[in-house]
Amino acid sequence: MDKVRVPGVAWSREADCDAARFGFRKNARRLSFYASHTLRQARQRKPILNPRVGGWVQIRLGSMTRILVTGGAGFIGSHLVDRLVADTSNKVVVLDNLRRGKTANLSAAMDRITFIEGDIRDRATVEKAVEKADTVFHLAAQSNVIGAVTDLDYSFSTNVTGTFEVLRAAVAAGASRMVFTSSREVYGDPLALPVAETAPLAPKNAYGASKAAGEMYCRVLASAQFQPRVVRLANVYGTRDFDRVIPIFLGQALRNEPLTMFGGQQVLDFVWIEDVLKGLIRAATVDILPGPVNIGSGKATELRRLANRVVEITGSRSEVRIAPAREVEVARFVADTTVQEAALGVAVPLDPLGHLAEILDFFDVVKN
Ligand SMILES: NC(=O)c1ccc[n+]([C@@H]2O[C@H](COP(=O)([O-])OP(=O)(O)OC[C@H]3O[C@@H](n4cnc5c(N)ncnc54)[C@H](O)[C@@H]3O)[C@@H](O)[C@H]2O)c1
Repeated sequence: MDKVRVPGVAWSREADCDAARFGFRKNARRLSFYASHTLRQARQRKPILNPRVGGWVQIRLGSMTRILVTGGAGFIGSHLVDRLVADTSNKVVVLDNLRRGKTANLSAAMDRITFIEGDIRDRATVEKAVEKADTVFHLAAQSNVIGAVTDLDYSFSTNVTGTFEVLRAAVAAGASRMVFTSSREVYGDPLALPVAETAPLAPKNAYGASKAAGEMYCRVLASAQFQPRVVRLANVYGTRDFDRVIPIFLGQALRNEPLTMFGGQQVLDFVWIEDVLKGLIRAATVDILPGPVNIGSGKATELRRLANRVVEITGSRSEVRIAPAREVEVARFVADTTVQEAALGVAVPLDPLGHLAEILDFFDVVKN
């Protein structure tokens, strides 16, 4: 295929194809117009117009260039950063206040990113971090239910005000996309399983309420130039996580301590980190997304089965104990993954817990 390249412009596969299809090499005047238009739009980080028969249509640059990841030192954020820096055309900025995140999570990527230790609630810091960004992955948050309800002020100020600050700064900086990591907690106790994106938002706790509020700001600040994309994550698991059910169970099992289930009747949807990364990146890059999208495995896992499986793979002598249920927790969730599969192309696994052993290889018993 003939390729027409404009120096300094991240060239999309679509643009390559179009250049070949329209025979631009043979048409110097059109090429020169297209090249100068492309350069101008790219420098201003605006969409590039694509000449097709019957008029001009907008296309996006195929590769991302400047990217801000808030919460990039955390569990999911640091894996995302590793993935993004693997493409050397990406310039990645990470903003994290290290409240839960760790710079150690970024050790493999640190020399290829700009790391800003700062708070998303601080307007000047956010404005500096988002400068010239085309795409924002907004992950920074008070990221769990119990933490959010025990510190209502922090979860509100970070998840609502902080999200507003990131959105506001992204719009002002001319970013074109923002992926917002919402949660299955926005649904509260579902009426039926699996839960589709059209289910009512009825959060049961402060964490879910703060994520629902963030979603609403994404909705009202969306425009033709700026598209926030909302992904509602199920229970994500992978290396670098701590203080959530899978790392807690693994730690208890490896120390031969009892595995404690609160209530014991939970049915949850565990999704492997790699599937989530795929979903996040596709959410940022696909042309059309119908609205918020669940990201999950689409499979129900009884918590008791998870506990038994952890005991099995660790060869532990632990027993499984039941403590009283915690009222604020949503005990039943399975994602309807129809939209995830169709719009993001993220397939669902046969065995949602198939990667447990991979975590075990990297598990630090002392820290969990
Ligand atoms: N892990 C899951 O199962 C799950 C499920 C649903 C949604 N989510 C959402 O996905 C995102 C990432 O989750 P995670 O599991 O990686 O959590 P995490 O706690 O590991 O990462 C969140 C990061 O945000 C940072 N942070 C917190 N407050 C901040 C502030 N005010 N300013 C700047 N940085 C701040 C933390 O230091 C941390 O590094 C969060 O928005 C979370 O709510 C996660």
